[in-house]
Amino acid sequence: MGATIKNFKTMQKTASGLLGPIDSQCRQKRSDTFNSLKTTIFAMILIVPMSVLAGGERKDRKIPDEYLAKKNPFTGSDKSVFERGEYIFSKKCARCHGKNGDGVGSILEGYQMPVFNKEYYSKREDGYIFWIVEHGLPNTPMRPFGPGSDYNLSEADIWKVIAYEREKFGK
Ligand code: HEC
Repeated sequence: MGATIKNFKTMQKTASGLLGPIDSQCRQKRSDTFNSLKTTIFAMILIVPMSVLAGGERKDRKIPDEYLAKKNPFTGSDKSVFERGEYIFSKKCARCHGKNGDGVGSILEGYQMPVFNKEYYSKREDGYIFWIVEHGLPNTPMRPFGPGSDYNLSEADIWKVIAYEREKFGK
């Protein structure tokens, strides 16, 4: 009987000797998982807004192909087009986008405004910009400006303001 109890105690010791490292290994695994989860979450917090803000553009925009293929019938090197575009920009756009298109002086203080510069225009088709100006960007202060909207710009005026911006800010 005494021997059996002793044997049992030895077995118990052996078992806990074996289980101890396994348990601490598990704990290590758990904390590894937790650490990599922390890293992932941290990376997501960092990367998501970066992808949103890269180039001042949200990446998740789906601009219809037929718009991307549209060509601007006007050019900003045409003086009357430039002047009309300049007039519209100063009346309808500058208060938010800044008179130089860089968001400086925007009434939307603290909002990360897109910067309309050479790099911006080298990456965006006029049709892409046209779609945004016509439809606006939902859930942002960027309203629709197209025909029938509150601002009711004609298609020609939208093209002219884009031609102006490209000429003025994109060179
Ligand atoms: C009431 C403020 C306001 C006015 C007025 C306004 N915008 Fe905007 N616009 C914004 C904001 C804010 C954004 C950025 C939205 C976002 O991505 O969060 C924006 C985005 C844009 C973009 C998209 C930039 C990109 O991400 O590629 C274009 C193009 C644009 N505006 C053109 C215009 C033009 C042209 C006018 C004038 C006809 C105009 N906007 C008037 C607030 C305004």
